[in-house]
Amino acid sequence: MCGIVGYVGKRNILEVLISGIKHLEYRGYDSSGIAVLKNNKIFRHRVVGKVFQMESSLPKEFFSNLKTTESVYVGIAHTRWATHGKPSEENAHPHVDCNENFVIVHNGIIENFLELKLKLKNHKFSSETDTEVIIHLIEENYNGSLLEAIKQTIKLLEGSYAFVLISRYQPQKLFFARKDSPLVIGVAEKENFIASDVTAMLKYTNKFLFLENYDYGEISFCEIKIFNLKSENVQHRNINVINWNSQMVEKSGFKHFMLKEIYEQPQVLRENISSRVFGEKIIFNEEIKFKDQMLKKIDKILLIGCGTSYHTAVVCKYFFEHILRVSIEVDIASEFRYRDLILKKNTLAIFISQSGETADTLASLRIVKENKIPTLGVCNVIGSSLYREADSCIYIKCGPEIGVASTKAFTGQLICLYLFGLYIAKIKQTISSNRYLEILNYLYKTPTYIEHILSDTSYIKQLAEKFYTKRDFLYLARGINYPIALEGSLKLKEISYIHAEGYPAGEMKHGPIALIDKDMPVVIIATKGSLLQKVFSNLEEVKSRDAKVIALTNYGIESKSIDYKIVLPETDELVSPIINVVPLQLLAYYIADILGCEIDQPRNLAKSVTVE
Ligand code: M6R
Repeated sequence: MCGIVGYVGKRNILEVLISGIKHLEYRGYDSSGIAVLKNNKIFRHRVVGKVFQMESSLPKEFFSNLKTTESVYVGIAHTRWATHGKPSEENAHPHVDCNENFVIVHNGIIENFLELKLKLKNHKFSSETDTEVIIHLIEENYNGSLLEAIKQTIKLLEGSYAFVLISRYQPQKLFFARKDSPLVIGVAEKENFIASDVTAMLKYTNKFLFLENYDYGEISFCEIKIFNLKSENVQHRNINVINWNSQMVEKSGFKHFMLKEIYEQPQVLRENISSRVFGEKIIFNEEIKFKDQMLKKIDKILLIGCGTSYHTAVVCKYFFEHILRVSIEVDIASEFRYRDLILKKNTLAIFISQSGETADTLASLRIVKENKIPTLGVCNVIGSSLYREADSCIYIKCGPEIGVASTKAFTGQLICLYLFGLYIAKIKQTISSNRYLEILNYLYKTPTYIEHILSDTSYIKQLAEKFYTKRDFLYLARGINYPIALEGSLKLKEISYIHAEGYPAGEMKHGPIALIDKDMPVVIIATKGSLLQKVFSNLEEVKSRDAKVIALTNYGIESKSIDYKIVLPETDELVSPIINVVPLQLLAYYIADILGCEIDQPRNLAKSVTVE
């Protein structure tokens, strides 16, 4: 899970590469590095730490040597999330071959690197990384044609890779290959870009070519050649124009991307509703390629994801069961992919992933596809692997999500899947017209309700100030809000490093209640709904053990056992998770901010988990 960037063109290459990997730091930030080719020499600089540390320590000679008369520059850069070998200068990318003729940046894992390394006994390795075998193999296979050397090399690689390399032998070109790790070419006039993600290139272009598995090729400032290991011909890839802009990848006055993204949620919801709901009708156009006849027959739905996207799946289990009356199975992708699955016809499998590149989610998708079960992706990145590989894909229209903690993608996924659920319920006739309209009406109101919450966050800030010193938190809820307890606790632990657990409130007495004492803040979701009385009983249970109770409630809900009350707009129980998650995102954010945590780039985490 690293970020890679390459550039060929006449701009200030350092600026392009550094700005590019700064936008990819969400993918990893243990160490960073850059290499440019000038005067037939490779200039390379690597540091342990973030891109700004690499940028501020660039040797002077690095700049001066760049100021030559040659006009087309070529270079690569990398931000690393360590897998093979600890974060160190030696392990940081770019890596070179023995004679410094080639230099490479790589994202992915070469699973057979040890075996390959044994075959390269005459090569001098200087890192513990798996990446280094690629560049030594290219050196070994080079016989006058770099493309041929790459082709021979990728035939030997097992695992995942997206790599970009430059070479003294062809100094005005970038070379690349990809399998199971994302790689996108940014197309522009007399210059070209390549990166792990479009966000690194949005400042310069909005035209992109998404590479496919086993693609390899070369890029000059005026030409792009793509080949594929499976066929000898030059490949045609459509240019996608993405309507994101560079402003979207800036903080725009917010202290952190996470806060900006929390505040973008009303807009995300509106965009998704207004582009799919026309009067009383929900229309998905080309996104859903399934025929109504096929959807009508569906009697089982699988919902698969990881982390926050898994929590979306759990919310949807409750929602779909209620409105579709079919059996729903949810699973975490890393578990699902290794199960002894029983996959039957008339099943629809839904894969949820913001990035569309999560390795376990993609592996699960591929298993299901092999079993000829129809697949639906739900993702935020056009051109991502999930977007391309699922039979149909709903695009959640959130704009780039940069903060590692997922916020707007969660509510974006929910709104899309809620609309999709209602859309099938209409086809299957499992919902009355009144109920359909009632839910749709509440969905329409969600942006306004969230705006109301965001218009005054002072009370949530006060709670953060009161509780930021606590070491453990418990989040409780029941029914369709249980996954919101999971999501609230995930937000807190990932950005503040405070231990937090989300639990179904009714399960407390089967163990976790033992943890409760006067020091334990318990966040409980007690908004209106069919299980409110049950939640109240659970609330009494924790209060009698002296917990400090913070309750998410609606106006008019009273209890002496609640110590702190966050009053939220009242909505339909089924729609309430979309509203209820917002104060929990804010609580986690403000606690982490008081603690001075690196909110957008929490330790040990990366935004896109492209390794198993
Ligand atoms: O891109 P994906 O939605 O597939 O990512 C899944 C998880 O890695 C992600 O939701 C992760 O749990 C977030 N850091 C949660 O905030």
